[in-house]
Amino acid sequence: MTDAETEAEFVVVANRLPVDLERLPDGTERWKRSPGGLVTALEPMLRSREGAWVGWPGVADAKAKPFVEDGLTLYPVDLSAKDVEEYYEGFSNGTLWPLYHDVVQPPAFHRHWWQAYVRVNQRFAEATAEIAAEGATVWVQDYQLQLMPAALRALRPDLRIGFFLHIPFPPTELFMQLPWRSRIVEGLLGADLVGFHTPGGARNFHWLAQNLASAKEGRGEDELYYHGRTVRLGAFPISIDSKALDALARTPEVQEQAKQIRADLGNPRRVILGVDRLDYTKGIDVRLRAFEELLAEDKAGDTVMIQLATPSRERVEHYQKMRQDIEQAVGRINGTYSRVGHPVLHYLHQSLPRNELAAFFVAADVMLVTPLRDGMNLVAKEYVACRTGETGVLVLSEFAGAAIELQDALLVNPHDTDGVKLALHTALEMPPAEAQKRMRNLRRQVLTHDVDRWARSFLDALGLPPATSPETDD
Ligand code: ADP
Ligand code: F6P
Repeated sequence: MTDAETEAEFVVVANRLPVDLERLPDGTERWKRSPGGLVTALEPMLRSREGAWVGWPGVADAKAKPFVEDGLTLYPVDLSAKDVEEYYEGFSNGTLWPLYHDVVQPPAFHRHWWQAYVRVNQRFAEATAEIAAEGATVWVQDYQLQLMPAALRALRPDLRIGFFLHIPFPPTELFMQLPWRSRIVEGLLGADLVGFHTPGGARNFHWLAQNLASAKEGRGEDELYYHGRTVRLGAFPISIDSKALDALARTPEVQEQAKQIRADLGNPRRVILGVDRLDYTKGIDVRLRAFEELLAEDKAGDTVMIQLATPSRERVEHYQKMRQDIEQAVGRINGTYSRVGHPVLHYLHQSLPRNELAAFFVAADVMLVTPLRDGMNLVAKEYVACRTGETGVLVLSEFAGAAIELQDALLVNPHDTDGVKLALHTALEMPPAEAQKRMRNLRRQVLTHDVDRWARSFLDALGLPPATSPETDD
């Protein structure tokens, strides 16, 4: 790590830095990779462009200085314990997260949370205004920073500002519940380009901008006029570094590790896998119920299920309750259906290194991705990228953004337990030729639509010149 220079030409701003500061019990500190799909998607893209990243280091009062890591300049934004409670756990994850995910849990509306959201968005805007070069391009990420485009434009009208929402943009009827709905829309309209995962999200915003912020319809559904400027909208489905993951999955180390995982499980006929942040939107309970019912009906055969769950937002109430429910279900299922030394269900509440995760994807015959609502879901794409032998079956919720592209998965309605159970059974018993046909099509899609293509399409639309490769730099 080296000291950071100032004046960046290309800046990504996200609630979190790609690394979190971890404070160990002995008082020492170290940086570790942050959780979630946003970092998975953006980190490789930004490293190749040698950009700057403004974000929170993941703990309160970190007081970290800017630093350079692997060609990427990181600018930490400090949050106090109160900011973390009110802006991050409160408004971002107690209000916006459930509201934008179809209200699968009730959102809480608190004025002091909103005030913290305004205050912290302003702080991010000020931090960015200080380091961006004249005329620089700034790409603001996700629901935690929706006020930032307008706040930044007020400070630095010379900047080119893009915004991308990594979670679903809700139906207009749900968005209208938000007491501060107009302010959020006005915040986003500060950008030159606002990106969503799906055309439906862009359409919802197009309607709200006209009805809540008096934006005028532009030359089509993807354009608005607002305060003398053109604001463009678009759908940009995010992806993963598919080729890197494909290559990782092919390495002898990962292949060997995958064999070892199956051996450790007792070489069952089938291995089912779930991989998620431990979040109530992910439908982990849905898939456990389907598996439990198959076991009860004696239709699971010689099958073992693994659920990997990264700890997430552990101080938010809904997350605590969900964790209890899931761990209780795991105990109940194992208590009823396991034999000594042979659990039917393995549950790891841990974050794993990338190569180990790849080995789990390689080891699994069936991948269960059953969110009640998800902006995209990168896990589904990661599984496909790791299936280099064109085997394996993906069961995917139709309410994940990924379902639009991954039509050869077994698509399920996660609210329909019988449907999920049937799909799981079909996946476990699918003839190899059909599984191969489906996986081949899925792989074609994922390998040709990678994160670089996503970033290029957004940045081209924003008008940023393409990244120069290191060879052509001089
Ligand atoms: P979200 O952004 O809501 O967390 P995504 O599926 O889009 O959901 O992205 C999750 C990312 O986190 C993926 O890159 C996935 O591999 C990673 N991940 C999820 N669970 C684990 C885990 N237990 N260990 C390591 N990485 C994980
Ligand atoms: O992709 C959605 C997202 O909320 C990101 O913005 C976020 O970084 C990630 O999931 C993980 O969540 P958190 O930062 O709250 O741990």
